[in-house]
Amino acid sequence: MPKIAFLACPATLPGSPTRRPDAFEHDLQIGALRDGLGGLAEVTEIDWRAPLEELTGFDLAWLGTPWDYTEAKDEFLARLGELEAARVIVCNPLAVVRWNADKLYLKELAQRGAVTIPTLWPERAGPADVFAAFDHFGTDRVVVKRRVGAGAIGQDSFTRAAPPPADWRIDQPAMIQPFIPAIQREGELSFIFVDGALSHALLKQATGGDYRIQSLYGGTETPLDPAPANRAAAEAVMALLPFAQPPLYARIDMVRLDDGQLAVIEAELIEPYLYPEQGPGFGPMLAEAMLRRLA
Ligand SMILES: Nc1ncnc2c1ncn2[C@@H]1O[C@H](COP(=O)(O)OP(=O)(O)O)[C@@H](O)[C@H]1O
Ligand SMILES: [Mg+2]
Repeated sequence: MPKIAFLACPATLPGSPTRRPDAFEHDLQIGALRDGLGGLAEVTEIDWRAPLEELTGFDLAWLGTPWDYTEAKDEFLARLGELEAARVIVCNPLAVVRWNADKLYLKELAQRGAVTIPTLWPERAGPADVFAAFDHFGTDRVVVKRRVGAGAIGQDSFTRAAPPPADWRIDQPAMIQPFIPAIQREGELSFIFVDGALSHALLKQATGGDYRIQSLYGGTETPLDPAPANRAAAEAVMALLPFAQPPLYARIDMVRLDDGQLAVIEAELIEPYLYPEQGPGFGPMLAEAMLRRLA
């Protein structure tokens, strides 16, 4: 029977003392895969930093919930390289992960014609960069993010009325965007694709005045039957990915700009949460796609 590794980390593995409160996503995601497979392959959850010889015994490694890779990107990429060298099918593959691990890929998507949020890319952002961004975008509020990041960690939002303190600095290559107000009105739309085909969509909304839609900050999710134009906008982003084959899984996150167009906020190809609860057909669809790769 084929053996699938669900790569995880101490923040997500069951029983781990440092398990994060939102690690229930890990359980739901692995549960969807196991149910979808119906016993046709064996799934094991395992730390991506486990001894290599333990990992090379698997036929396929799904980048399930290795959430701490953003703090150790090079080590993570090296590990995926080792797995591919040992002929483990890595999903998504190293080449896709390497491209997607730095949000600079959004610049490339914009150059290829995708609708994106206007962005400045300072290597080390300080207060002067934030003030320059207010002027550049003609806005009173911006969001500063790490280029390599997830879960809104290390992210800040500043207004002209509440600017960064003089000693504020972001310690990593950064990106600055105008604050998009639709995030708090409409929310963020997510489209989940398997082998390039839409599985399901959902709407993620923030609560309590927050602008971050992640469950960690109280965000909620609702299944969405997307309007044809919205679906087409997500499919257009998929079509612009610079890979010969569509990735096994992808989550396209979008937010509406003031002109009404949906802009891609992230094209998540590494370890996105794929919201199986909002897509009952997702587990079987993913399982079928994995079994095709294993055949
Ligand atoms: N330009 C923006 N305007 C408004 N909200 C934003 C903007 N960029 C990010 N956010 C909010 O912050 C969250 C996290 O940002 P995101 O770009 O998705 O990075 P990541 O999920 O990788 O940390 C988004 O889901 C959204 O709620
Ligand atoms: Mg995000």
